[in-house]
Amino acid sequence: MKERQNKVELQVLQEMLGKTAALVQRAGEIILSAKDIWSVTHEKTSAADLVTEYDLAVERFLKEHLWEVCPGALFYGEEEEHNEDPTRGWAFVVDPIDGTTNFVRGIRQTAVSVGLALDGAVQLGVVLDPFREELFTAVRDGGAFCNGRPIHVSEKPIEQGIFGMGTAIYRREFLEATLKLTEQVFRRACDFRRMGSAALDLCNVACGRTELFFEYSLCPWDYAAGSLIVTEAGGHISTLQGTPLELSRRCSVWASNWVNRDVLKELEV
Ligand code: IPD
Ligand code: CA
Ligand code: CA
Repeated sequence: MKERQNKVELQVLQEMLGKTAALVQRAGEIILSAKDIWSVTHEKTSAADLVTEYDLAVERFLKEHLWEVCPGALFYGEEEEHNEDPTRGWAFVVDPIDGTTNFVRGIRQTAVSVGLALDGAVQLGVVLDPFREELFTAVRDGGAFCNGRPIHVSEKPIEQGIFGMGTAIYRREFLEATLKLTEQVFRRACDFRRMGSAALDLCNVACGRTELFFEYSLCPWDYAAGSLIVTEAGGHISTLQGTPLELSRRCSVWASNWVNRDVLKELEV
């Protein structure tokens, strides 16, 4: 009986995933249509913290349409006021443009990220890289995919691997810790990358392009979708303290393939 219920649930999730992915593809077209981006760019808290009219347009579009996928779900988008708790009931956790600085500067490493959670547990995740036309998707217990093909984390130990990291740009107090951790991992690894879109950094771990990723401070919309894509691809994700990620607050993120899941315990964080 339980199995049957789960099966129905998976089907429902898969239907919701299809609809969400179609909307995210349309949101990607807004990004691809962008022109004169600097002229519609504003500083939020500093020159390192930007928002463009396109971030707002993508968020507006998704807010207008995502309710059709899951009526009644909370919309928890980066550019909104955050007065409600995304860990209660159904909630879309949305980053309209992850990698805004890249987008503004014409560095084609930017994503749309949409996660749908139920009581704080992400049920489906969609991350679109509109420039590479790569659509990463996952539903809970249903595997992870890129453009419909199954993806899996790599099997390489960090000694044969490369890692991604983020600089927690909006929380400069983590600068020293970030550099110290980067040095420790770099001493063991072949190389590292700082690509500028946490959602895509997580997808890179999920599809085996990198072996690890970490950042000292990310928001729920940065990691909601990507976290499910990593675990459904056979990877591991937690905070740098080894605790589960929570959608209700900012936290650190450590994502790795399965063979490197314990490397964190050997590092000073
Ligand atoms: C940022 C990107 C970046 C990460 C920052 C995020 P945004 O998101 O994911 O890679 O280092 O911590 O805030 O501001 O471009 O949506
Ligand atoms: Ca982001
Ligand atoms: Ca963003």
